[in-house]
Amino acid sequence: MPRVLITGANRGIGAALMIAARDAGHSPIGTTRHGGDGFTALTLDRPDTIAAQLAQIGAVDIVINNAGVIGPDRQSPLDMDFIGFAQTLAVNTLAPLAVVQALLPRLRDSATPLVLTLSSQMAWMGYRKPDRIAYRASKAALNKVMQGLASTLEPDRIPVVVIDPGWVRTDMGGPEADQDPATVAAGIIALINRVTLADTGKFLHFTGKERPF
Ligand SMILES: NC(=O)c1ccc[n+]([C@@H]2O[C@H](COP(=O)([O-])OP(=O)(O)OC[C@H]3O[C@@H](n4cnc5c(N)ncnc54)[C@H](OP(=O)(O)O)[C@@H]3O)[C@@H](O)[C@H]2O)c1
Repeated sequence: MPRVLITGANRGIGAALMIAARDAGHSPIGTTRHGGDGFTALTLDRPDTIAAQLAQIGAVDIVINNAGVIGPDRQSPLDMDFIGFAQTLAVNTLAPLAVVQALLPRLRDSATPLVLTLSSQMAWMGYRKPDRIAYRASKAALNKVMQGLASTLEPDRIPVVVIDPGWVRTDMGGPEADQDPATVAAGIIALINRVTLADTGKFLHFTGKERPF
């Protein structure tokens, strides 16, 4: 049974991923800020602390970097909360890389290694929308980080892809969103058996369809 580490597992897409992973016969290890209730404690605000926080974790085959933040209230180009912007980058962009670095020995030991990271359509470079720039920039940078990581880990035969979950009904997505978390989570978990090294570096919709960066 592959052991799947899922960050931000207490609510939203992460909680739905825990259920979908169990339903698919995987063995999920959920992380939350404070642990408890069968969760592993992992806070993502300080990337330099992540390796130490994960030092005692056992075998991990698959990493799903799910946790993320929408960012500060003020994040338009001319009215920017810079501290909040930096915190958004720490959680959304730096932490996923630090998690993979920390778990790399486990992934290298695995027969079925895989890294999936939740990005967003809001990262798309094909339009010039000016709202939520801290969030958009953090996810665009995340895509570039994961693309580079994909190339770096290709010789280790560890596929790395970023995922667009669509607009999902969670605390972040709000009640008007068109996707329900269970459907999105089931799609993402199904990717575990579909993604191969031929897909590494791609940006995939949760349905598995490749999409532009
Ligand atoms: N919902 C959407 O429409 C949508 C669209 C595109 C992409 N996404 C992405 O999908 C992922 C999940 O989103 P969601 O809608 O499920 O969000 P959510 O409902 O707001 O849940 C976010 C999760 O991330 C955790 N988290 C946030 N900051 C953390 C930190 N510093 N340390 C540890 N955990 C932290 C939260 O833990 P706490 O409960 O402790 O805060 C929570 O478990 C995110 O990466 C998001 O950017 C979502």
